[in-house]
Amino acid sequence: MPSADAVIAPAPVFVSAATLSGPRFVALPPLAIYVHIPWCLRKCPYCDFNSHEAKGDAPEAAYVDALIADLEFALPSIWGRRVVSVFIGGGTPSLFSAAAIDRLLAGIRARVPLAPDAEVTLEANPGTFEREKFAGFRAAGINRLSLGVQSFDPQHLQALGRVHDADEARRAAEAALSIFGNVNFDLMYALPRQTVAEAAADVAAALAFVPPHLSFYHLTLEPNTLFHRYPPPLPDDETAADIEDAVDAALGAAGYRHYETSAHAKSGRECRHNLNYWQFGDYLGIGAGAHSKLSFADRIVRQVRHKQPKQYLEQVAAGAPLQEDAAVTREDVGFEFMLNALRLTDGVPASSFAERTGYPLALVRQGLEAAAARGLIERDPALLRPTALGRRFLNDLQALFLADPPGKAK
Ligand SMILES: C[S@@+](CC[C@H](N)C(=O)[O-])C[C@H]1O[C@@H](n2cnc3c(N)ncnc32)[C@H](O)[C@@H]1O
Ligand code: SF4
Repeated sequence: MPSADAVIAPAPVFVSAATLSGPRFVALPPLAIYVHIPWCLRKCPYCDFNSHEAKGDAPEAAYVDALIADLEFALPSIWGRRVVSVFIGGGTPSLFSAAAIDRLLAGIRARVPLAPDAEVTLEANPGTFEREKFAGFRAAGINRLSLGVQSFDPQHLQALGRVHDADEARRAAEAALSIFGNVNFDLMYALPRQTVAEAAADVAAALAFVPPHLSFYHLTLEPNTLFHRYPPPLPDDETAADIEDAVDAALGAAGYRHYETSAHAKSGRECRHNLNYWQFGDYLGIGAGAHSKLSFADRIVRQVRHKQPKQYLEQVAAGAPLQEDAAVTREDVGFEFMLNALRLTDGVPASSFAERTGYPLALVRQGLEAAAARGLIERDPALLRPTALGRRFLNDLQALFLADPPGKAK
């Protein structure tokens, strides 16, 4: 029998409250923690990450203290929420001692409920490799290592200005696999003067180790880098596309799935931390310049911490680590969701749009129609999934979801 309320209620209006005011969340998404360590042995000429040459020793103890204070400052924003993964990135986190990483992880575990099966990754540069140190990271609770190999070719490593040679990369790769098992290698392609055959040799060298996960990044010339100012001779677009096809074929034949634009994995070894980004999950970023995306019952906020390490340390001491703190607007949230989700080969369930943005899917209806008309997205009402064409022209596909897409009639 209907309740009295239902009898007198007006005819339903099929507009979510979210379209009239802010977003509404029934449940919050999974939460991950990112920790940024901003120092490297030397700055690579192509890199625009927030990384700084450690002149002498990095202030390891003071920085771990600051990270823990930073986390404490953030606790009210994530109160009671379980953390599904931790990623310690940089920079070069493997510059830090195992004792410092142990103290950091103990500090995190003591303050937030970490899922018993949480994936805990650390980024390492082969130039900082020592077997005992890797074993110490494992003992501290790191259960996945991401190794910045870049290439196994001595000449390409030199052209990239890497601090390690190919032998060091091989020794670090071997030790990483024996100590952690769950390992990713970062490789870059379309390197200065690289041929398709050389790129294929790099893939073969990587595959010889049988790592569970491989990330392949197209080398890009980023503003404010030495390579941008003095561009090296890079392969043309056609060669870069041939390299991509060769990489894909070799990895596919070896049983890896190209599950995301730059990521290939054996079944079940996809990076859970990165999947959470692409599925528009939440993350708290602590450390210099770290970014956060956090959902609350009625809003999503993005935060950025102070970027320069010295300034970050001072600001944490002053109890004010945030440089930016703003709510994601209704105009931006659809684009941000699609930007991430469309990187995934399998896409995401259509229902996750409302679950993760707090708005109905109608928010991106125009973009979806335009993408389907151009054959860039599957016409499946239950899925948001790029077609093969959409994956090839991903930037064009993503741009259709901008609040003001290029070429839109005014
Ligand atoms: C923070 S670094 C990883 C760890 C460590 N710093 C290292 O380089 O060994 C993340 C990865 O981004 C990739 N990367 C950095 N700059 C790039 C660029 N300009 N173009 C493409 N990939 C880049 C590299 O593959 C690098 O391993
Ligand atoms: S070691 Fe990694 S983070 Fe550091 S400068 Fe080189 S690519 Fe960038």
